[in-house]
Amino acid sequence: RPRVLSGIQPTAGSFHLGNYLGAVRQWVALQESHDAFYMVVDLHAITIPQDPKELTANTRLAAAQLLAAGLDPERCTLFVQSHVPEHAQLAWVMNCLTGFGEASRMTQFKDKSAKQGADRASVGLFTYPILQVADILLYQADEVPVGEDQRQHIELTRDLAERFNGRFGETFTIPKPHILRETGKIYDLQDPSIKMSKSASTPKGLINLLDDPKATAKKVRSAVTDTDTVVRYDPQEKPGVSNLLGIYSTLTGKSVPELEQAYEGKLYGALKTDLAEVVVDFVTPFRDRTQQYLDDPETLDSILAKGAEKARAVAAETLSQAYQQVGFLPAK
Ligand code: TYM
Repeated sequence: RPRVLSGIQPTAGSFHLGNYLGAVRQWVALQESHDAFYMVVDLHAITIPQDPKELTANTRLAAAQLLAAGLDPERCTLFVQSHVPEHAQLAWVMNCLTGFGEASRMTQFKDKSAKQGADRASVGLFTYPILQVADILLYQADEVPVGEDQRQHIELTRDLAERFNGRFGETFTIPKPHILRETGKIYDLQDPSIKMSKSASTPKGLINLLDDPKATAKKVRSAVTDTDTVVRYDPQEKPGVSNLLGIYSTLTGKSVPELEQAYEGKLYGALKTDLAEVVVDFVTPFRDRTQQYLDDPETLDSILAKGAEKARAVAAETLSQAYQQVGFLPAK
């Protein structure tokens, strides 16, 4: 079975609809066909300041949501990044292979550091993508299911894997991004020119999966569309409507042409009312299941402990091979 690996940050509150449709939903599907490794990336989270107690709680919350979304610990390996020390260890080696200018060109770093101010942004934020490279290479992943905003980081991973292999001998698998066309980038409901995100979206433009379903329905019904009335998938001309159609299609399994036909001659209001219901039908049981996992932290922690053990077996083997290739004297 080909292998996939991906990660998600433990954010406060909950995942948003973009995280789910762009990434997590793919993770659930891929555990059926792939040898799948998924993790909550707490090491990445501390690249910006975190309250320690909240970080602990948000890590459990992230794991609970991943299970609620359908990850099955019998079919995939679910773990917390800091439980596997090899991530930080391989990241160091990768740091030493990365050019300063090369790291400076990472657009997410540029955006995030601009927001924080250059003096407050940490060196960890700067090397963030290189830790992600280590995450992926440790598992010899063939594919990395992510949203469009991660594409550049996967490109860097490929470059560094090739560089390492070229310099020290064949060691790492060169991974490919797994990004879906329709949901690789979910847009803000109020401003379809920007992606849905915790940091850039206004509350009305952002669907947090664990919010009150009634409030969520209202946000969907008041999504910004355009002054035209035809329900047609056209991301260039009709970004708002196209975003809604992509969400609708993915959550129901109905194709976009099917939806276009169903809403022919109808107004946007009908589409939005129906989509609001579709979203509520998804988030309501999702919330309940998440709560059930949170109510039983022992079970949750033991799932993560087993996941870490499985992950570590793979990661340790890759790291020891990489260390050997680099020429580190083996510890006796
Ligand atoms: P993070 O935690 O920011 O986001 C998790 C996943 O959600 C996707 N995503 C979106 N997809 C579609 N539309 C959107 N509006 C949207 N917003 C977010 C992201 O693309 C991502 O797939 N650096 C990563 C975490 C990471 C990782 C890794 C991923 C760390 N190590 C190794 C893959 C492999 C991140 O910050 O994701």
